[in-house]
Formats: sequence, C-alpha cells, structure tokens
Amino acid sequence: MIDDLWYKNGVIYCLSVATYMDANGDGIGDFKGLTRRLDYLHGLGVTAIWLMPFQPSPYRDDGYDISDYYGVDPRYGTLGDFVEFTHGCKQRGMRVIIDLVVNHTSDQHPWFKQARADPNSPYRDWYVWSDKKPAHADQGMVFPGVQKSTWTHDKQAKAWYFHRFYEFQPDLNTANPYVQEEILKIMGFWIQLGVSGFRMDAVPFVIATKGPKVKKPVEQFDMLRTFREFLQWRKGDSIILAEANVRPEDDLHYFGDDGERMQMMFNFHVNQHLFYALAAADTGPLAKALAATKPRPATAQWGLFLRNHDELDLGRLTKAQQRIVFEKFGPDKTMQLYDRGIRRRLAPMLGGDQRRLELAYSLMMTLPGTPVIRYGDEIAMGDNLALPERRCARTPMQWSTEPHGGFTKSDKPEIPVIDHGAYGFEHVNVAQQRRDPDSMLNWTERIIRMRKEVPEIGWGDFKVIAARDPAVLILRYDWRNNSVLFVHNLDEQPREVSFAVGLPDDAGDTLIDLLGPNHSHASRGRHKLLIEGYGYRWFRVGGLDYLLRRTEVDGGGRSKA
Ligand code: BGC
Ligand code: CA
Repeated sequence: MIDDLWYKNGVIYCLSVATYMDANGDGIGDFKGLTRRLDYLHGLGVTAIWLMPFQPSPYRDDGYDISDYYGVDPRYGTLGDFVEFTHGCKQRGMRVIIDLVVNHTSDQHPWFKQARADPNSPYRDWYVWSDKKPAHADQGMVFPGVQKSTWTHDKQAKAWYFHRFYEFQPDLNTANPYVQEEILKIMGFWIQLGVSGFRMDAVPFVIATKGPKVKKPVEQFDMLRTFREFLQWRKGDSIILAEANVRPEDDLHYFGDDGERMQMMFNFHVNQHLFYALAAADTGPLAKALAATKPRPATAQWGLFLRNHDELDLGRLTKAQQRIVFEKFGPDKTMQLYDRGIRRRLAPMLGGDQRRLELAYSLMMTLPGTPVIRYGDEIAMGDNLALPERRCARTPMQWSTEPHGGFTKSDKPEIPVIDHGAYGFEHVNVAQQRRDPDSMLNWTERIIRMRKEVPEIGWGDFKVIAARDPAVLILRYDWRNNSVLFVHNLDEQPREVSFAVGLPDDAGDTLIDLLGPNHSHASRGRHKLLIEGYGYRWFRVGGLDYLLRRTEVDGGGRSKA
C-alpha cells in the first residue's frame, strides 16, 4: 500500500537533457547520452528523474518556450530515443517526470502563428488579446529588469497579447475549454510513452484569470481537480508536482482539502527560510515556516529542494533577513537577479566547504517532504557568472578530466563547460570523486541510501524539539510506532545541546546513530550531545531493549497483564 504512493518517499533528481551528456558529439546533450548515464543515476540511488523541457523549441528560455508539445527537439534525438530512455529507467526501477509548460507557448508555435495571422482562426482565442494597450501592461512581470511589460503589440495581429513571462512566450488562454482539452491531451500523450507525471510549470498563472480587464487575477482551482482526475483515470500512479510559489495559507487550495488536487508542490516557503537559517545560523524562522506549511492532506507531499534551475527567490523573507542572505551568499550584484534573488549554485554559495554542503543536504533530506536534487550538486558543481541570467547555473555536467569534462567530444559545446577556477571540471568531476570514499559524490550516495531507509520522514508526523539554541534544529518524526530524530548545528562553532526526546516513559532514552558510532543514552530523561560545527546526526529512537520490550507488549500478547 505505502509503495503505491511512490512520491511520498522518493528521491527526485532534476536534469536537463541538453546539458547532461552528449553522445553524438555535436556539443548538445541528447537522450542517447542520458540513457548511457542511467546506471550512474541508479547507483546514486535516485528513484525518479525530472526532465526539464526537451520538446521542440527556439530555446530562448532554455526550452520553456515550446513550439510543439508532441515531440522531441531533434537536437536531443527522436521520440524513439525518448521511449528507449523511459524504458531504461523502468528496467532500473526509476520513474520519470517531465516538465509540463502550458501557461504559455513559444511565439513560434503554429497555434500562435495562426492566431496572430487570422482573427477568424479558431486559434485566435487560444491566446489572450486586447485591441488597446491595457492600463496595467507594465505590471506583473516575472523577470523584472529584463522583461519590460506583460503585454506586447503584435503588428500582424494588430492587437496586444498577454505574456506573464518573456515577450516570446504568449500566454495560453487557459479558460478556453479547447485549450484545457489540449492540456489533457498533452498529458495523456506523455503518460502513454512511459512517464509517471509532470512537474507543472507556473501553476498559479496557468489557473489564473487572464485578460485586459483583469486587475487582480483569480485562481480557478477547479482546473487542478480536472487535471488530477484525468491523470488518475489514465494511469493511477501518475502525479503532478506543482511549481507554485504561494503563501502557506493558500497551500490547501492547491493540494485540495481532501487531497483531490495536486499530489505534490515545491515548498518555496521552507526553501527561503532554510537559506536564511544557513546564512544566519538561526533556525527560528525555519521552524515557523515548517509549522506554517505543516497542514496538508495525508496523500499529499512537499518537494524539498535547496537550489533549483531558477534564481533563489528571497521575496518571502523580511528585509533584514534578505540582507543577511544576500550578504552571506550573494554579495555581488553579478550574483543577484530580478531584484529578488541569487542566481548562484549551492557549492559556491557555501564556499565550496564540504562540511557545510553536507549539513545543507542533510537538513534538506530530513525536512518533511521528498528531496529534489539538482544535477551536479552531488559533486558540488559551481556556476559561470559570465553567462546571462539563470544560465549561469545550467552548465554541462562534469564527468571527468577529459576535454570539456567528458560531456562532449565536440570542441565547441553549445553551453560552455566550466573549465577554470576552483569549480572547473579538472577539479570537480564524477570520475575523480568516484575513487575518493570521502567525496561529495560518495557521501551523497550514502545519504540517499539512508534517506530511503527512513520512511518516517516522508510519511510521519513531525515535531520540532526545543533545543534552547537557535543554531540547532532538532526534529522528531513518528510513524507506525517508530520514531527518528535529527539534530543539525548550523553554526560553525561546536555546540553542546541538551534535550528531551519527548516520548512517554523512557521510550526516548536511547538514540541509535544511523550514520556513525555516536549513540546517545539519556540521563534522567535528557540527552546531552556535543555536536561539531556544521554537524548533523541522524538517530533512530529506542535501542534494542526498547524494541524488544515493545514487541512483547504490542506483539505477542505476552505482557504481564
Ligand atoms: C520555470 C522557469 C521558466 C518560466 C517560464 C518557470 O517558473 O521554472 O525556468 O523560465 O517558468 O516557463
Ligand atoms: Ca548531441
């Protein structure tokens, strides 16, 4: 039963075909290359791969501008290669989810071409038009500083069209029933080809009312139920992971009160507070963010992440908190983006310090939800700030010390491999880290293995245990009579912490260290730990004694009474 809800206790790995592995040497990653790397991913222990858009696209927003929803961009291969890839995943017990980008199309999509060319085309109403420039055309941009407006005049159409994102990404009129039907058809198509669901792009905008008169868009939440129902009819175990950077009070609108809408959402609220906690060694606001995002239906799940392919958006933090995060992790203007975030990768933000990277990942993996890992983070890849906007953190995977990091045989990869400085492929690559038992790669593999063996995190109920020290976060999970407990010290200085596990009687007296030899025994109900700077501990609650006694009482009916 619990295995049916595979996304509750999985490990998701996100990558882009374009930058993972180039098999045919044209400088662009492809499905054949990715398929050759499946044993690597399987060995790492990931249970699902999330592919960023790979459909035909002019590639002006790294594929988030799609010109055909039913194909594979020829640069990456064919539909046949795609099916070989999903088959290869299936053989290894890994699932595939893909990006579903249906808030907008590329302006090169045939639908938009017909819509702009002919006011009587049935496709005209697939987009959002206005005869006059709408009053609020210069509001609501997603990419401030780069994007000038949300309405652009189209000469051919002799009208203005709406675009929440870049001007080459006209918004689909998602209120149009034909557009809604097409969205279902797109999902049905890919489901048939072997995917287990979708990372749905920009969900609040997909379901928002759109039009020249819409001042304050209103979400049409019923659409989410329609998507969900359709998926479940077609293939019961397929899911939607929603990209929705919304306030905690809106979470249940997206999950549905009874879990009838999205199965998963990224927890942006926790993400931002997590970075604040790492920057300030202050876990108070993170604990509050955890509490605020706690209510969710039993079948729903959070996607937990550190950095993703976009900027680290800090919009939810107070000005004072933002200042600290910028100061610590992105002090230069070149590291910042869209007046709200940081565009760097995780490793350079944390000074390339493996202790801090382990701490950050250990924390992320033990917060309530399913971890989503960004490709390259497992080897602590860096960024290339010479590339524009978010491209800086989307450079090719670094496999070895061969030219271009073994990513391609071409001398001119389309997106350059990082080839100099501390994060260049000669210093940071898979081949070298494989041979080093203490490498980030081998650490990641071990921690993923352990994470999968602790289903309490994905399924259980959590509680923040008072540590009386803001630098230390203690979380306990309880599920099916089992408990686990995690201690993280976010400060660089060692800490002595004293705490009570908080279970009845002496149930919490023994803590078994899951990652090392530091078991802990309580004295008069309290544990006292010395935890090193940036240290972390994963404990299973209750030693052998406790477990044996529990079987006696619960199991065999041999209790004294
Ligand atoms: C994606 C971005 C993309 C945008 C437009 C998002 O929210 O994560 O990478 O640029 O949607 O599709
Ligand atoms: Ca290629």
